Amino acid sequence: MPWRVGPADRAAGVRPDPYRVWLSEVMLQQTTVAAVRAYFRRFTELWPTVGDLAAAPDAAVMGEWAGLGYYARARNLLACARAVAQRHGGRFPDTVEGLRALPGIGPYTAAAVASIAFDRPAVVVDGNVERVVARLFAVETPLPAAKAELTRLAGLLTPADRPGDHAQAMMDLGATICTPRKPACGICPVMAFCEGRKQGIADDLPRKVPK
Ligand code: ADE
Repeated sequence: MPWRVGPADRAAGVRPDPYRVWLSEVMLQQTTVAAVRAYFRRFTELWPTVGDLAAAPDAAVMGEWAGLGYYARARNLLACARAVAQRHGGRFPDTVEGLRALPGIGPYTAAAVASIAFDRPAVVVDGNVERVVARLFAVETPLPAAKAELTRLAGLLTPADRPGDHAQAMMDLGATICTPRKPACGICPVMAFCEGRKQGIADDLPRKVPK
């Protein structure tokens, strides 16, 4: 992710910029990392802070959003930026509850920003994490019924120490190694703990109710 902080800075206590984490998570809700990259760069060049975005004319933001789709999301983006600017003096709230109270921020985005930007022990569950957890614990209940159980298990894995790095690592694992098809179990750092792999069913998880 373009807002990543390197290990040396991270060790020195540097956190990713909440504005950048929020912006990228909203963009990534509908589009792949590869497609988002250019949009993210352009937005952060034009509007380097949430205050800059809040002050932008609607038409400018909608124009730059063109191609990402789902215009309601761009409107919510702007409403959220303006709420952060007006209600919070341009600083994102640093808790899940505070983030949830902002327009357009749902449970996933609140958890992702609280965790990645503020190192809160929020449980971040997207499709990637659902798959990783279903495989690690060999959960055979199909989605969507399995969601609550997968969230509970993801919560059990969330550590008190460096929960932000943990959340990011789970998403990265799902995006790069524990992929939907042909997972690269041979290079997986948690292969030894994977119940799905042990049972030889990792590739088939999570199961889904046929449409
Ligand atoms: N997809 C959406 N958010 C992501 C993140 N933080 N890391 C990796 N993939 C993602």
